[in-house]
Formats: sequence, structure tokens, C-alpha cells
Amino acid sequence: MNPKIPNDADDSDDVSSNNSANPRFRDILGARIHRRVLLGGAAGVALLAGIAGPGLFRRMFEEDDGNITDFDFEEIGTGFIKHHAVASGYNADVLIRWGDPVLADAPSFDPSSQSAAAQALQFGYNNDFTGYISLDNGDSLSPDGRGLLVVNHEYTSKILMFPRHALEQELNGYLAVSEELANIEMMAHGGSVIEIKLQAGKWRLQSGSPYNRRITAETVMAISGPCAGHPRMATSYDPSGVRVRGMLNNCAGGMTPWDTWLSAEENINMYFWNRPALEGHAEQRNFQRMGIPAQRKPWGRFHDRFDIGKEPNESNRFGWIVEIDPLDPGSMPVKRTALGRFKHEGAESIVNHDGRVVIYMGDDQQHDYVYKFVTLNAYLEGNPEHNRNLLDQGTLHVAKFEDDGSVQWMPLEFGTRPLTEDNDFHSQADVLIETRRAADLLGATKMDRPEDVQPNPKSGKVYISLTNNTNRSPKQINRANPRAPNYAGHIIEITPHDNDHASTRAIWDMLVLCGNPDNPQSGATFNSRTSDDGWFAKPDNFAVDHRGRLWVVTDGNRLETTGRTDGIWALQTHGTLRGTSKHFVQGPIGAEVCGPTFTPDDQTLFASIQHPGAGSSFDQPSTRWPDFDPEMPPRPAVIAITRIGGGKI
Ligand code: FEO
Ligand code: CA
Ligand code: CA
Ligand code: CA
Repeated sequence: MNPKIPNDADDSDDVSSNNSANPRFRDILGARIHRRVLLGGAAGVALLAGIAGPGLFRRMFEEDDGNITDFDFEEIGTGFIKHHAVASGYNADVLIRWGDPVLADAPSFDPSSQSAAAQALQFGYNNDFTGYISLDNGDSLSPDGRGLLVVNHEYTSKILMFPRHALEQELNGYLAVSEELANIEMMAHGGSVIEIKLQAGKWRLQSGSPYNRRITAETVMAISGPCAGHPRMATSYDPSGVRVRGMLNNCAGGMTPWDTWLSAEENINMYFWNRPALEGHAEQRNFQRMGIPAQRKPWGRFHDRFDIGKEPNESNRFGWIVEIDPLDPGSMPVKRTALGRFKHEGAESIVNHDGRVVIYMGDDQQHDYVYKFVTLNAYLEGNPEHNRNLLDQGTLHVAKFEDDGSVQWMPLEFGTRPLTEDNDFHSQADVLIETRRAADLLGATKMDRPEDVQPNPKSGKVYISLTNNTNRSPKQINRANPRAPNYAGHIIEITPHDNDHASTRAIWDMLVLCGNPDNPQSGATFNSRTSDDGWFAKPDNFAVDHRGRLWVVTDGNRLETTGRTDGIWALQTHGTLRGTSKHFVQGPIGAEVCGPTFTPDDQTLFASIQHPGAGSSFDQPSTRWPDFDPEMPPRPAVIAITRIGGGKI
């Protein structure tokens, strides 16, 4: 989500704002034909072919130079829709929606009389990351017919969740919410584990499965790693500093090679309360670097732990990567402090050639950093006991992107200058609690909101999504963040030195500067074979399928600015067509698309549709996706995309 305002049309984007008030970009293609024909030859032909229809588009590529992208689907259009759409030949079915029963005793969803007790048993709000674990044991005919889907519930949007909230807001102000509504919000956060099964070609929720689980803002979790038990982690609820209730604002994440779920706490500052207590607070410098207390949720009125004056250390217990074992429904989630504390977007892993596991992570805020964690010990396949606490020991690094195209991964290790007593670091726990300040002192490169950082096991490359940065000034430009302001975002590709993901050296290259290639001011660098529906702005999460192809989802495209809703695009990463993008899925108005994940057989792509109808209200929604029932508000939901008739996506 955008860190500024939940449920809001987020930051402005001028990439294509003067192109059209018309939602259908095809209507203004004339000017583009002219531009692209001027490019000559293949590019001009490609554009004309794009107008003529995607099938012809592809055939003409083949006839032109035999060079086509790795993606054979027929691209879809852009523009305004209240529903969602996928390329022809595919289904995109709604699998589970906010309020659907997860646990066996859950009541059915009634948005007009929702309760915290009901919400605690039902699917939460604003689904984000999804991950899949196969429950089939190598049945080659149907290797992915039964599995567990894990889903993050990042945040809540009161105005879309609750009837009459707008009236309440008008009477009492934004933060005046009853205790019951605050508690519903707390129960709608966290995550879900659901068992799903493929039946007659459709994925179905297995209600009553013993694996089904809800994790909320109250679920008891362990704190492990270097910060466990540190005095800065102690509260009146937990003087020992090893237990915490709940996880908050869990955005993207990753799955480990040992089938656990890494869930990333992102904008945790929003939940903390009591601004006057900040002045002179023992943690003032730490809090300010994280934006605490942002005071965006009123929970602190009812729960002292969200009040920084009453519980000065509670917020140090948020902002971590949480590891959850979906295969053991009784297991306690664990906050792995060795991976650092910041506004974590995701945590995607790769097994290095020496067996160590490397987790790549972004800190999603303007001018924040890209990180990786390298485990001390190697992963041992088939040895869960050994792997269980692998993430408690290792080295966190932060990236410096040099203008000469090299990357330096700098370790954040206590005792190594400048991470010493001189700078008020007295232990590795201090370095990790204040990861951002430690990275500042090391001179890490300030990036344009790093979101997903995705390794590609096939190629060994790593992709970084920089979603946008409206506050980069011309003086702050560097080669890795070359636009000021950066409205449309970009994607960087990292190649580790010697294919060693644990190395402190790598090189970087720009994969694409996003935005409208027809707007000369945008600086967008999509391959000229990209059609007018094929480009995107504001990349957010990635998925790499098992053939090594890159898929991009976006957050923040708007009809008013980019002439398109958010969706899923397929992006070619190699060959002469590198940088060619194709539009695969279109999300409903107001929604971002996030959490893309492929089943191991690549026959299903799951994705989250988050905050459909954002910018409108429960009473007057801009869409009632996905039910289109006049009694139902828009509902965040997970979709399952399959090829009609079967086969790989
Ligand atoms: Fe929750 Fe950075 O998106
Ligand atoms: Ca985002
Ligand atoms: Ca995101
Ligand atoms: Ca990802």
C-alpha cells in the first residue's frame, strides 16, 4: 500500500495526465501511430499490428524477424472497469473474499452487523502476499491439486468496511471509532492459512480443514534472534521481551525452501498513538526515523500498548519479518529479528550455491534502502529441525548502488565502524532495532521506494521494484534513481558476482524505466515493441514462474494519470525484446493487484485484489466487486488464474 494514506487515491502521477480524459487509449492512437511509424521498420509494424489485434501482432513479429516474447497470450486492453479481466483463453476466478469463513465455526459474512468475534474466524481484509505449499506427494498427473494458500491481510479501510462510517466521521472526526469497530479492524489484520483443492478445474476452499488458520493483531508470537530479551523489547505485558501479540500491516513476503511463510510488517507506524509523548521520549530518534507515532488508527484509545507514552517499547516489537509454519497449525509465529526492523515490503529467498539462504528485502519508503540477509549456516533439505531456526543467525547487508554499475552489499555488524558505541549502538540488537539509522551511517543508496526484491533461480538475476518517488529532487538523482521526481517507478536488475548471492559484490543494470513511452517527459524505456496497453507505471510485486519468466503487478495506476487500472503485466527480461511488456490481468477500479504466486506446475497464478473501490465509500462504492450485489460492499479477494482447458499459464 501507499504509506501515506490508507484507502486514498495515493500520490499523483503526471506520466500521461495530459494525454487523454478518455479512458480508452485506443481512441487516441493516431498520434502514436505517427510517432512509432517514425521509429521505422519493425517498431512501426509492431504498433500497427497491435491495433489490428494481438494475434496479428504476434504473427507479424514472427514474420518480421522471427523474434517473439516468451509470452504467447493475447494482450488485453486498458481503461475503466468495475470488474476484473484476464487475457482471452484464461479464467480468473474469485477464490476467497473478505468475510468468507476460514474456520469451521465462522458465521457467514454480514457486512451490516459485523463483529470482532466473527471477523476473527473469517478471511481478513486487504489480502496482499500469497504463497502456496503443495500437499500432493509427487503425483505427477496432478502435482498441484491440493495445497495450502497463505495470505497476508495488510490493513483495513474503515470507510469501505463499515456502513455509516462516513456519517460517523463527519460527526466525530476521522479517529473517532467505537471500540468494537477498532477490534474488528484488529481481527481483520494479520493473515490466513487456507486449504484449497482443485475440483473440476476450479480451486475450492476446504472449509473445516485442520490447516485453516487465522492470525490477527492479537495472535501471540515469539521474538527470536539477537533482539529477543533485549530491554528495548520489554513491555509491561512481556517484561522478558520474547513474546508479542500480533503482526501488523503485513504487506508482501516470501516462502522459504523449507515451506514456511515469511510475512513482512510494513507501515507499522500507523498504529501507534500519542504524539505529545514523542518529545523527549527515550526512543525519540528511533521513533522519528520510522515515523512513529503516525496515529492513523485509534486503537491506542482502547489498548494501552499502542500508546507510546504508556508502553514505550511496544512499537520496537513491530517492523519485523514474521516466520509462520502453515503445516503446523498449532505453531507459534516467530518474529526473526536478525533480518532487521524497517518498513518491510517482502522477503524473497534463494538457496545459494553453498547452501546458505539469501533473503532479499526492500524498505518501502521514499529514499529508503534495499537489504539482503545471508544465513550463517546452510539449508539442509529434508531436515526441518536444522532449518527451523536458520534465520536467527546470519548477516544483514544494505545496498550501495554505484554510478559505475557496481553494487556493494555492506554488512550491518555491531562493532564494525560506524556501528559502534560512538553512535549509540551497544549491541547487535541496537543495530537491528534501528536498522535504518545503521544503514544511514553506512552510506546506503537512497532508493525510490523499494518494494519486492525478487531473485530468479533460473538466471541468478535479482529484480528490484522501485515503485515511485514523488519527492526526489534533481539534486538527489543518481544513476540507479535517475528521475526527479519519479512518478512512474523503475525496475533494476542485479547480477551477483560469480553467481554468488552471498557475495558483497554485484553489478546492476536498469531493466526498465516505467511510464508512458509516448510521453516524451516520462523518460520511459519500455522496448518499442510494447503496445499502448502493454506499458505500466508503479511496479510493486513480482513473481518469477518456474520457467524463469518475470511477472509484474502494479499499485497506483489511475485512470486520471496513467489511463489504466492496476493489473498484471508480463515483462521480457532477456534478448532483443528485453523490456517488452504485455498486459495480462486488469484489476477493478480502485484496486491494486498484489501477491502473485505460481503453483509449482505453473498451471495456476494466484493474485490478490486489494482495496477494490478505494477512494469511495461503503454507502456509495465505485464498484461492488466481486459480488455486484447491492447489499454487499466491495470486498478484497484472492483470484486464481488458470488456462481454459488446462496447461501452463
Ligand atoms: Fe504495502 Fe509497499 O506496499
Ligand atoms: Ca505499493
Ligand atoms: Ca506492496
Ligand atoms: Ca514476489
